[in-house]
Amino acid sequence: MSKRFYITTAIDYVNGQPHLGHAYEKIVADVIARGRRSLGQEVFFLTGLDEHGQKVQQAAQSEGKAPQVYCDELARQWMAFVQKLCISNDDFVRTTQARHKSVVQALLQKLYDRGELYKAPYRGWYSWKEETFLTEKDRRPDGTFDPVWGEVTELVEDNWYFRMSRYQSWLIDYMEAHPEFVHPPSRRNEVLSFLRSQPLEDLCISRPAARLSWGIPLPFDPDYVNYVWFDALTNYFSIPAAWGDPAALSALQGYYASESSPKAALELWPADIHVIGKDIVRFHAIYWPIMLHAAGIEPPRQILVHGWWQKDGQKMSKTTGNVVDPVAVIDEWGVDAFRYYVLRELDIGPDGNWTDAGFRARYSAELANGLGNLVHRSLSMLQRYRQGVVPSVHHELAPEAERTAEEVRSCLQQSRLQPALIAIWSLITRANQYVDHTAPFKLAKDPAQATRLDQVLYNLVETVRVVAVLLWPFLPTTASRIYAQLGLETEPHRLTTARWGGLPPGHKVGAPQVLFPRKEH
Ligand code: MSP
Repeated sequence: MSKRFYITTAIDYVNGQPHLGHAYEKIVADVIARGRRSLGQEVFFLTGLDEHGQKVQQAAQSEGKAPQVYCDELARQWMAFVQKLCISNDDFVRTTQARHKSVVQALLQKLYDRGELYKAPYRGWYSWKEETFLTEKDRRPDGTFDPVWGEVTELVEDNWYFRMSRYQSWLIDYMEAHPEFVHPPSRRNEVLSFLRSQPLEDLCISRPAARLSWGIPLPFDPDYVNYVWFDALTNYFSIPAAWGDPAALSALQGYYASESSPKAALELWPADIHVIGKDIVRFHAIYWPIMLHAAGIEPPRQILVHGWWQKDGQKMSKTTGNVVDPVAVIDEWGVDAFRYYVLRELDIGPDGNWTDAGFRARYSAELANGLGNLVHRSLSMLQRYRQGVVPSVHHELAPEAERTAEEVRSCLQQSRLQPALIAIWSLITRANQYVDHTAPFKLAKDPAQATRLDQVLYNLVETVRVVAVLLWPFLPTTASRIYAQLGLETEPHRLTTARWGGLPPGHKVGAPQVLFPRKEH
């Protein structure tokens, strides 16, 4: 058994609405996961939901439902959303699952036994109406709290703390020794300068159960529940433990018994990539590695941080109606058009801006007229001039196709998704220009040019096949449809098959079908 490439997304708050930002993150992680599979690696891809906490408890209460019933209903919608996006996750974690809760408790108990947790008074501004502590961020510019919070008073209560401050210099050293730990480098620099500029505070990890019951009880003090980042972050580790991962089991020895049979065990930890948005970097790049280190567990290998989407240059907000509904876009344009736009428009790192006009422009120029047209005319000409039968192998476009495949391989190894798409589209453009330059419709009129026409047709259909293989991690449905139209019974899901010459002479291709219908808008 060897370690799988283990990749995760953040787990979404169950009580939020699935939106463009959530969709983007899952698609980015999905392409990286599929890319690794295409490279021949074994992969484990985890996504899921963050279901505990005050807001969920209150929302369930206001709908007159038990919190678990409320979560179960929403979880169904989220899982349907994940399917809609064609996400190839291997598991779906919900933090209310027993398999997760037992690992959180094991980890807490281990930290407690090691003297990493202590009880102390917690002081904060408390909203009695919303039953939650507020932070400095909730203050208005004039220092007061918004009336929506009702009466706000300073409250002191005992809580449990994690001794995070102990590990500040360990983390600085770790990050210096592992420059790839936070990516892109701009985010790494932010974290490092934060760590170097101020002392870390210890982390409050509990709430009194009397006030918040919707959480995981602390095993050593049942008057408290765990709150809530500690619980959420642990999902990345609890699922490997539940799958019998040897590293997880040995770290939890004496605290946890996995129910999975040793035969079915998967080697997963440490995680290779946690894909997250820029707002939760501190939790992932500071709290999480310190929690693990304090428990004697290796940190994840990389935190990959993406930017945030806006729409039309404004923050997305349901109240103003300034939102992109991924499901509506997918229903109208297809899932691969949606996946293509978000991946091509926004590199992993900077912030992005969705515009409907930009979406349509890319759809029309790059999908319908670029990729769609290449596939359609290549297959149509092969049908028309050669009854769909593939001619002898010819290598005119081979150097470009092989160079592109090499570029895509290196991009997939480095999670460089936008550059990979740019490379694939330059091959598509090149092939479309090749049609214009070689003018097969003219060659077809001259019997003396039959060999040349064979050559041109081979170069075109073989380029189409190679493009399908390169595209598979990004646009899996389209890639499979291209393979089906080529009359191939395999899937284009292995990068090694992008090697030139894969279409055998004499093979009969199928009928062309429109991949991206042109739309009047
Ligand atoms: N539950 C926490 C994460 C816990 S992970 C151990 C959470 N949930 S969330 O639903 O608010 O956000 C989930 C992910 O979506 C985060 O990585 C966040 O950055 C991302 N996005 C939320 N809005 C976004 C945009 N507008 N654009 C891009 N990504 C965004 O935080």
